[in-house]
Amino acid sequence: KILILDFGSQYTQLIARRIRENRVYCEIFPYNVELERIKEFNPKGMILSGGPKSVYDEDAPFVSEEIYELGIPVLGICYGMQLMCKHFNGVVGRAEKREYGYAELIVNQKEILFDDIPLENGKLKVWMSHGDRLEKMPEDFIVIGKTDNSPVAAMKHKEKPFYALQFHPEVAHTDYGSSILANFAIKICGCLPVWTAGNFIHNEIEKIREQVGDKKVLCALSGGVDSSVVAVLLNEAIGKNLTCVFVNNGLLRKNEAEQVVKTFRDNFNINLIFVDAEEEFLKALRGVTDPEKKRKIIGNLFIKIFEREAEKLGRFDFLAQGTLYPDVIESVSFKGPSATIKTHHNVGGLPEKMNFKLIEPLRELFKDEVRQVGLELGLPEDIVYRHPFPGPGLAIRVIGDITKERLDILREADSIAIEEIKKAGLYREIWQAFTVLLPVKSVGVMGDERTYEHVLAFRAVTSLDGMTADWAKIPYDVLARISNRIINEVKGINRVVYDISSKPPATIEWE
Ligand code: XMP
Repeated sequence: KILILDFGSQYTQLIARRIRENRVYCEIFPYNVELERIKEFNPKGMILSGGPKSVYDEDAPFVSEEIYELGIPVLGICYGMQLMCKHFNGVVGRAEKREYGYAELIVNQKEILFDDIPLENGKLKVWMSHGDRLEKMPEDFIVIGKTDNSPVAAMKHKEKPFYALQFHPEVAHTDYGSSILANFAIKICGCLPVWTAGNFIHNEIEKIREQVGDKKVLCALSGGVDSSVVAVLLNEAIGKNLTCVFVNNGLLRKNEAEQVVKTFRDNFNINLIFVDAEEEFLKALRGVTDPEKKRKIIGNLFIKIFEREAEKLGRFDFLAQGTLYPDVIESVSFKGPSATIKTHHNVGGLPEKMNFKLIEPLRELFKDEVRQVGLELGLPEDIVYRHPFPGPGLAIRVIGDITKERLDILREADSIAIEEIKKAGLYREIWQAFTVLLPVKSVGVMGDERTYEHVLAFRAVTSLDGMTADWAKIPYDVLARISNRIINEVKGINRVVYDISSKPPATIEWE
């Protein structure tokens, strides 16, 4: 396995994903982690990430120099290269202008790092993003790649397995960047490419059985991909000792509750408690229009209902959660604490209140890996590739007052929009597509009649992680079909608009 030390680059997680794509297991640690923990992790190689600082900044992050004594290969990327340069007595200087964007790397093809990479005239298109650059090579290093602007764009130690790159092999803009990282992990560090969904499942089932023994596990199932994979994985591991609770809060999409019950009870034979709490939720939400209030009410009520059900069921030792790796990485940020934009609700508040031990079988996985595991476990593609859906559900997509009638209108419209997006083959490339019912009425004409009905907003965005997003450039004819069908088929809507805001400054959801 490979250890990635994070110096605060926005690309650190990408390095991890590229390494894992090549089937080598890796983890990310913050740069200031104790040497002891690194030794304990016992990696076969280490990667130093990029970062926003300059090695000359007063508060520049450093790493224990002893990492070079561990006897394992080290690859420095961008800031990581400058650190390595400084350590080996080279000189880092401020480049006159920041180098940002494409560069042509002229490489020494005999190098293992560039093994098996098809080059055009000995050149490779790479992505640069840096302010500092090497002025003087450190002692005992040689150049293995250069660009017009950086005479040392790639270097290595003459005897020891230390490598450094000025460009970013982890970003998609660098051609064959993934192969460069694979060469490092597999050919230089000697890692075996054995990290696969199948292996993960096999090992995880063993681990869960050992951890749980014949104790009891409770799992809150939402029908989203993460909790679904957790449920099926636990079911494989401990079967009858697992109980899943699914709460229908009345804020789900069309037929969603029925589908979840059918999939998990009938197809997977999971012990599933279905709680129909629609009326309770709608009652609690009556007259509430403030988005944050909606979120708080839904979050708290969910916890209350879940506790009530758990009590009925008797004693449980573990609570299973679909925590993913991006949630547990101690990421390094030099931007300071961020403001709360929205209070996100998931089952977060539960364990502290309920005195459960947590079981989080996905905490080492990225989302795309969770999907692979889901497919391998036999979950339907419909669930595995489902767009993210917020915990508060349609409550934050019915703007203003929430009533059953409005929710039903939204459900109909939403299912038409999604159906058309799927038919057009766009569903997978879109991060999220959904509709929002506005508390605005507009005038229309249907036949010879005047209508005065709701406006519906359609929103579709592309994104990698939901942190930033752009509105999807959906072909006009698809938009036209969605609009036509909704206005014709859904009573209560006579106008559809398309949301063309990016995040930031807008957010993905409207509330
Ligand atoms: P925003 O609207 O903040 O959404 O740009 C970013 C992503 O988070 C989802 N979202 C939520 N997910 N509980 C969740 O589990 C929530 O309360 C919640 N609010 C927003 C949103 O759908 C998008 O994918």
